[in-house]
Amino acid sequence: MSDLTALVQRALDELRGCGDEAALRAWHTRYFGKQGEVLAAIKNIGAIPPAERRAYGQEANRIKEALTGAYEAALAREKKRGLERSLAEDAVDVTLPARPVPRGRLHLATQVMRAITAIFADMGFQVYRSREVEDDLTNFELLNMPPHHPARDMWDTFYTTTPGVVLRTHTSPGQIHVMRELCPQPIRVILPGMCYRYEAITTRSEIQFEQVEGLVIGERVTMADLKGTIVAFARRLFGEQRQVRIRSSYFPFTEPSIEVDMDCIVCAGKGCSLCKRSGWLEIMGAGMVHPVVLRNGGYDPARFSGFAFGMGPQRIAMLKYALDDIRQFWANDLRFLRQF
Ligand code: FA5
Repeated sequence: MSDLTALVQRALDELRGCGDEAALRAWHTRYFGKQGEVLAAIKNIGAIPPAERRAYGQEANRIKEALTGAYEAALAREKKRGLERSLAEDAVDVTLPARPVPRGRLHLATQVMRAITAIFADMGFQVYRSREVEDDLTNFELLNMPPHHPARDMWDTFYTTTPGVVLRTHTSPGQIHVMRELCPQPIRVILPGMCYRYEAITTRSEIQFEQVEGLVIGERVTMADLKGTIVAFARRLFGEQRQVRIRSSYFPFTEPSIEVDMDCIVCAGKGCSLCKRSGWLEIMGAGMVHPVVLRNGGYDPARFSGFAFGMGPQRIAMLKYALDDIRQFWANDLRFLRQF
């Protein structure tokens, strides 16, 4: 019995000396683990003379319960202390200003593309997605450029290792796809997308750039419709005062073909460095869809007519934001991109 009294005294002293949760758990293992002293004391009951056995057993159980209770109370106290300590040490000062959340933004090319798309959507145009890898037939031949036709020289082409497969040099082959899909319905679509040309890279020319093609086909579509559409577009994007000038031009897939200029947004036609003293800025190529192209798309040129245009959103963005180098678009320089 005196061993039991000494055990409980020692255990309680040690328990009081435990400074943290880890020490408490070590204490518990020491006394209540498989090899623990309390269990050993209980197991010892067989070695006690029978006369004292009952009293010893009761005392051993009382000690077990008392120590268990003391341990649980100490553990609960320690946990509470730990929580209070961490609340005090890691306190959040809710009056501090919040850290700003870094926000992403749309790439300038995407912003401009969306602005262009929104303007044409308001005029009833749908967006038609077309492929970037084309066959020679659709990129050239069906657009009225047979093999070896000199007009092909207008587009320096990336040929793939598969004969007859090219990276499209313009979005115009999309005209053939949309006509063949929708014929004989009337068409009013824009075809945005990436184009590729094997060109020298300069401040105004990239080897990859976007175009937005427009195509309208119907029974009485005229050059006046083309002009009205272009003027409305230019005024929505660049301002209501914009003047538009049309020059004759040549594309194999339109007849007549035109080049569209807009009065310079910087000098309003007086002449400055942006417009190279001419007062005008070129914004797109366009024209009435060539009868051969209409026929290749499935439309009878005796009944249907149409207009098409093609513009470069990167060049348009350069005009709108007075950018001096087209290479900034795909250079991924955040100092440039963050400005928009
Ligand atoms: C064409 O590509 C014709 N398919 C446009 C067209 C469509 C005419 C429908 C008639 C009817 P062009 O080669 O001029 O035309 O290119 C059109 C526009 O693409 C240019 O005005 C320019 O804005 C842009 N562009 C052309 N080459 C580059 C280049 N290397 N880098 C950036 N933009 C370019």
